[in-house]
Amino acid sequence: MVTATNAYNKRMDGRNFDELREIEAKVGVVKSADGSAMFKIGDTIAIAAVRGPRDLYPRFMQNPKGGILRCSYNMMSFSVDERIRPGPSRRSREITLVTENALMPAVDLSEFPNSVVDVFIEIVQADAGTRCAGICAASLALADAGIPMRDLVCAVSVGKVGGKILVDLNKYEEDYEDGSSDMPVAFLPRRNEISLLQLDGGMKKEEILNALELAKKSCVEILEVQRNALMGKYKNG
Ligand code: CDP
Repeated sequence: MVTATNAYNKRMDGRNFDELREIEAKVGVVKSADGSAMFKIGDTIAIAAVRGPRDLYPRFMQNPKGGILRCSYNMMSFSVDERIRPGPSRRSREITLVTENALMPAVDLSEFPNSVVDVFIEIVQADAGTRCAGICAASLALADAGIPMRDLVCAVSVGKVGGKILVDLNKYEEDYEDGSSDMPVAFLPRRNEISLLQLDGGMKKEEILNALELAKKSCVEILEVQRNALMGKYKNG
């Protein structure tokens, strides 16, 4: 068993402490959606599909000053070894809310009064970092749908495992008994703005600042993959 007293000197998958898992991204993966994307980081896979802008009903929810962004995060039953009960849960509601807040500063819906843009995020395979993968996929899907955007949103989890600050924790690292802290971060690189910051576990102020720097640096790497995915679509016609 792994315990807090076990220093984590070498990552179980051989990565450097500042190294992301392998990333793949693709847009236009769901033909029936207005925009869509797949974002894979290690063994975590998120698919996002966007529908809209379209009229928002019931009418009392409409905002005449602009459209609203409505997200939905769902982890599929078979995405982990132990089957998950289908349907909404406290966890999925929380992640839906933080995802919406993380994406909001990046989109400009002022041209679409009384309308809604729906973002459906499905986690088809999970090995930690699903909210971050979902945000990366959603941001790509919004861009693919042609929604006016101020920036792309890049997200990654950083944390402390066995005393070491590292990026992109996998499930083994998240579960490192008593010795793991996990801090998901979403970042808008052009605006230099953080739109999601959560912390599960404990870290000292200095450690948090170091982890944040690592997250920002890693988000720039993620941005490159996202940009290539968007450009790939046009290159391939
Ligand atoms: O996925 P993320 O790290 O954003 O959120 P979490 O709630 O901290 O969950 C961590 C990980 O636990 C997920 O990525 C899944 O791999 C796993 N998990 C699970 O196995 N069963 C669940 N019902 C929920 C999460």
